[in-house]
Amino acid sequence: MRKVSRPPPSTAPDDARKLADAASTLAELRAALEDFEGCTLKKTARQTVFSDGVEDAPVMVVGEAPGRDEDAEGRPFVGRSGQLLDRMLDSIGLNRQSNVFISNVIFWRPPGNRPPTQGEIAACVPFIERAVTLVRPKLLILAGGFAAQTLLKRDDGVMRLRGKRLTCGLPALTEPLHAMVMLHPAYLLRRPQDKRLAWADLLAFAAWADEVGIQRGPGL
Ligand code: URA
Repeated sequence: MRKVSRPPPSTAPDDARKLADAASTLAELRAALEDFEGCTLKKTARQTVFSDGVEDAPVMVVGEAPGRDEDAEGRPFVGRSGQLLDRMLDSIGLNRQSNVFISNVIFWRPPGNRPPTQGEIAACVPFIERAVTLVRPKLLILAGGFAAQTLLKRDDGVMRLRGKRLTCGLPALTEPLHAMVMLHPAYLLRRPQDKRLAWADLLAFAAWADEVGIQRGPGL
């Protein structure tokens, strides 16, 4: 019988973890990500999409992956779902110019917006975990089930997780972070009837932000 040769296990997640953990600032992390060649998505994407917003923000939003507009512009959440995200945040006095930092679990656009593979996810996760650790936001918003399951390491669906006061523990943090899951804006564009759920979650988030002393601008 012919022996089936399997590819050697990828070292990309270990390499990613070493590179990410060596970064002591977001600028170093961005540079490490731009040099990293361990994620196949980088080969087809136009550019690395790392972050937008204020680096020492009290609120950090983590989404899924760049789409076509983000790939073209090099910033997360700039297309239609990003515009909806901005309106949602703005309605509770949050925005990327003054108090929000935004990133994604995946840093390169998957071709045709297909779901990322396990290998691609594993190569990106150390970088987003390091970004969250470096920002250490007072409140973390996880936009959609994919970001929630990846960073909270839970299998529950987004409808079970949304709007609740949760915690996100990361190895380099002594205390877990406060985290809340919201419906992904791209989902809300497809199902506008669920915007009332998103509005309830935003109000819950705003109340929590006030309790932990986050300065919100005009909005609510
Ligand atoms: N959807 C995401 O999750 N992230 C983006 O940056 C854009 C769309």
